[in-house]
Amino acid sequence: MITSVKEILNKAQKGGYAVGAFNTTNLETTRAIIDAAKEMNSPVIIQVTEKTLEYAGGRAIFQLIKNCAEFYAPDIPIGIHLDHGRNLEIIERCVDVIGFNSVMYDGSRKAYEDNVLATRKVVELYHKKNVCVQGELGSVPYIGETSMAGEIDWDKYMTDPDQAADYYCRTGIDALAVAIGNAHGFFKERKEPDYERLEAIHKKIPIPLILHGASDWENGKVKEVIARGVCCFNVDTAIRLSFINSIVKMARQQNDISFDIRKVLGDAQEAVKNAVKERIRYYGSEGKAPGKEKIECVDHS
Ligand code: G3H
Ligand code: 13P
Ligand code: ZN
Repeated sequence: MITSVKEILNKAQKGGYAVGAFNTTNLETTRAIIDAAKEMNSPVIIQVTEKTLEYAGGRAIFQLIKNCAEFYAPDIPIGIHLDHGRNLEIIERCVDVIGFNSVMYDGSRKAYEDNVLATRKVVELYHKKNVCVQGELGSVPYIGETSMAGEIDWDKYMTDPDQAADYYCRTGIDALAVAIGNAHGFFKERKEPDYERLEAIHKKIPIPLILHGASDWENGKVKEVIARGVCCFNVDTAIRLSFINSIVKMARQQNDISFDIRKVLGDAQEAVKNAVKERIRYYGSEGKAPGKEKIECVDHS
């Protein structure tokens, strides 16, 4: 059942667990996330980036997620979210035309004051339409954009707790993406997350904290950050990896390569489902879908 992201996050925050916000790009990944959520009786957020909107078509991918969620998992709270929205026109289309009720405005690459002003604008425009707005402060780097993982100057990226308090007060955001040594992409973050920094942020602002770039985090680190206010983990790389690895594996089994697209992609779907289930277990959201949430998603199509 399509459920407001704000409600899913707030419940996780109150319940002391986290939910996964899983990135999708296609039918198979969408089905894999929904099937995993159903098998684990867990709330989930399914999210798309601007690149995915361009690849799949905004309305098409939104309706795909919505229809699959309603048909295959009518009892499971499923939120739909725009991840890393950087273009205000795209955000406007997502909310006003397509029907998203949750967006991230990512102004993390801007100077601080510009980030505050742009985020506040998004909040002012969309809070009156009941849209949940996530901001980002500090910057979760993309490995690959930076030169060499070993050379990252982490201090440059970290969220400053006092600035986070100021950003929250001046923008009115509903959730905050934090940078504590986490990085997007392939498995090259700071050796240890900065737990003290996270704790300080958590003490200063009452809203759910979101951890991007932690696809590969194992259970120990996951538990430490949940105890310090993280209510949601964004997961993209682990999904891509499971999907592509499954296809590569099949292609390598040259004697037995299937010429049936449904077999090739069906196996990839199964691999993604298992990766999602593993993370739901880590995050502690298994069994947290009571099936009583109300539908709040506005469909403008
Ligand atoms: O942070 C989000 C993604 O990992 C990057 O995704 O390639 O769809 O922009 P994208
Ligand atoms: P990963 O690259 O660790 O999967 O992070 C994804 C993410 O943060 C999407 O917003
Ligand atoms: Zn991210």
